[in-house]
Amino acid sequence: MSYDIALLPGDGIGPTVVDAAVPVLDAAAAANDVDVETTRYDWGTQRYFDTGAMMPEDGLDRLASFDAILFGAVGHPDVPDHIPLDGLILPIRKRFDQTVCRRPAVLFDGVRSPLRAYEGGDIDILVFRENTEGEYADVGGREHRGFANEVAVQSAVYTRRSTERIVRAAFEAATERSGHLTNVTKSNAQAHGMVFWDDIVAEVSEEYPDVDVERLLVDAASMDFVRRPDEFDVVVASNLFGDILTDVGAIVTGSMGLAPSANIDPGNDHPSMFEPVHGSAFDIMGEGVANPLATVLSGSLMFDHLGEEAAASALWDVVADQLADENAPRTPDLGGDSTTEAVATDLRGRL
Ligand code: NAD
Ligand code: IPM
Ligand code: MN
Repeated sequence: MSYDIALLPGDGIGPTVVDAAVPVLDAAAAANDVDVETTRYDWGTQRYFDTGAMMPEDGLDRLASFDAILFGAVGHPDVPDHIPLDGLILPIRKRFDQTVCRRPAVLFDGVRSPLRAYEGGDIDILVFRENTEGEYADVGGREHRGFANEVAVQSAVYTRRSTERIVRAAFEAATERSGHLTNVTKSNAQAHGMVFWDDIVAEVSEEYPDVDVERLLVDAASMDFVRRPDEFDVVVASNLFGDILTDVGAIVTGSMGLAPSANIDPGNDHPSMFEPVHGSAFDIMGEGVANPLATVLSGSLMFDHLGEEAAASALWDVVADQLADENAPRTPDLGGDSTTEAVATDLRGRL
C-alpha cells in the first residue's frame, strides 16, 4: 500500500530526530512493500518569529488529507510555551479528534533503568491518555489581571464521548494483554470530573467482565510507577495525569529518548499523529546527540495503526536489536557518546 505522511519536525531537537528517523522508516517500508510519500512542513517557532504564526491559516486543512502525521516537538526558549503549543500541536490533536493517546513504556534488553534490579523485559506499561480535554480543554481563559483581586481560572472538561472512547480503548488493550487495567484519577479531590470518569469506567467495565480493574489516585500511582513499575500493565488516565505519568514511565524505562507515542482518532475520520513523548529539549538542542529512537518507535506505532504490521515490527525489532547489542552506538542519554546520525545509520545497516 501507499501512504502520504506529513512531517512536522517543529523546534529544537524535533528536526534532528525526525530527519534522522525518516530514512530508517523509509528503509523499513521499502523492505516490506510499503510505499511512503513524505511532505515536510517547516512549521514551528522560526515561522512564528518570521510571520507571527506557527502554521499557515489553512494549515489544519492541508494536513487533513494525509494518511498520518509524524511530529517532532515544539517549544523554544525565547517564546512563552503557550504560543507554540496552542499554535500547532494542541490544535492538531483536537481538530483531528485524536482522543486516544497510546504511550508504551517498555524496558528493552540492554537498557539500564535508573531503578534497582530491573532488567530488560521486566517493565512493560501501556498508558492510555485522554488527549483532547481535561485541563487541556480550551474553556475560555478567564484571566483577570491588573486588578486588586487578580484571578485566573483553569477549568477541566470531561465529556462522555471522549471519556468513553479512551476508557474503551484501554479495556480493549487490557483484553488483548494481561486482563489487568489500572484506572488513575484524583477522585478524592476532584469530585466532579473525576467521579464522572470513575462512573464511566464502572459502566464500561460491565462489557469487559474478564478485565480486572485496579483504582489508584494519581499521587499514589506516581509513587508506584517508581516503586513497582513491573506490576503495571494497561493504565488509563486523563490528559494531564497521563502526560505526567508517561514522563515517569519514560525515565523508569531508561530515557525520555526512548518513549514513543500515538495520538489516534479512534473513528479514523482524520489523520492520526505519531510523535516522541519528549519535547524540544533546550538543554541539548543543536548538539546532534538527541536520541532518535523514540521517533523511530513512533514510526513503528504509525505503521501498526496503518495496518502495516510487517513494517511496524521491523522497526520495533531493529530498535530492540540495536539496544541489546552492547557494541552498538548509543546517544549520551543511554550512557554512550554517539551522535543521533550514528545511531540512525546503524539502524539502517541492521535493516
Ligand atoms: P523535554 O522532553 O524536552 O526534555 C526533558 C529532558 O529529557 C531534558 O533533559 C532533555 O535533554 C531530555 N531529552 C528529551 N528528549 C531527548 C532525546 N530524544 N534524547 C536525549 N535526551 C532527551 O522536556 P522540557 O525540557 O520540559 O521541555 C522543553 C520544551 O519542549 C518546552 O517548550 C516544552 O513545552 C516542550 N515540549 C514539547 C512537547 C511536544 O512537542 N510534544 C513535549 C514535551 C515538551
Ligand atoms: C506531551 C507534551 C505536550 C502535552 C505539551 C507540549 C502540550 O508534554 O506530548 O507529552 O502536555 O501533551
Ligand atoms: Mn508531556
